[in-house]
Amino acid sequence: MKTISTLSTDDLEEVYKIELLCHAIPWSKKTLASNQGEHYLNLKIEINHQIVGFCICQNVADEANLFNIAIHPQFRGQGLAKDLLNNLIERLLQITSPHVIKTLWLEVRESNYPAIELYNSVGFNEITVRKNYYPTVSGEQEDAIIMAYTLAL
Ligand SMILES: CC(C)(COP(=O)(O)OP(=O)(O)OC[C@H]1O[C@@H](n2cnc3c(N)ncnc32)[C@H](O)[C@@H]1OP(=O)(O)O)[C@@H](O)C(=O)NCCC(=O)NCCS
Repeated sequence: MKTISTLSTDDLEEVYKIELLCHAIPWSKKTLASNQGEHYLNLKIEINHQIVGFCICQNVADEANLFNIAIHPQFRGQGLAKDLLNNLIERLLQITSPHVIKTLWLEVRESNYPAIELYNSVGFNEITVRKNYYPTVSGEQEDAIIMAYTLAL
């Protein structure tokens, strides 16, 4: 059974384990904990009550920012990230107070082909490139692609 629901602070230990498995340069526990609260719409996706993925989204005025999305490596390629993103978009579309949210923004490493394909498949558009934005494990830098999804005009 697959369910998508809002993330709570009780989920953070489990989510942190997934974070470590999913990113070469993962967030710290502290960063994960600080990206919670009233300005966030953070979701988890569960299979048979096991958390297998999550997303972290911050809302500021009429904009939302997807800061993180990750699916446990053993559960990839089944459409779960797409389900999670489409669910997030549906929830963002329902927000009317204090602002209607017009745009969902994100940035992604230019080398992260699976994520870029995911965002394209959901309907994000590439807006610009931020040069040398990300550090890499080899100590170099990598460009960020800035993408946006239009929720309302
Ligand atoms: C990016 C990520 C979230 C995708 O999760 P997923 O559940 O495997 O993705 P889905 O199965 O929902 O795939 C949806 C679409 O994304 C694209 N996609 C996903 N993985 C892909 C891959 N390895 N290669 C090419 N396209 C891919 C495809 O277009 C796919 O649609 P399709 O299956 O109809 O072709 C997952 O690979 C991940 O957790 N990566 C590590 C964390 C990360 O990089 N997060 C994003 C930056 S913060």
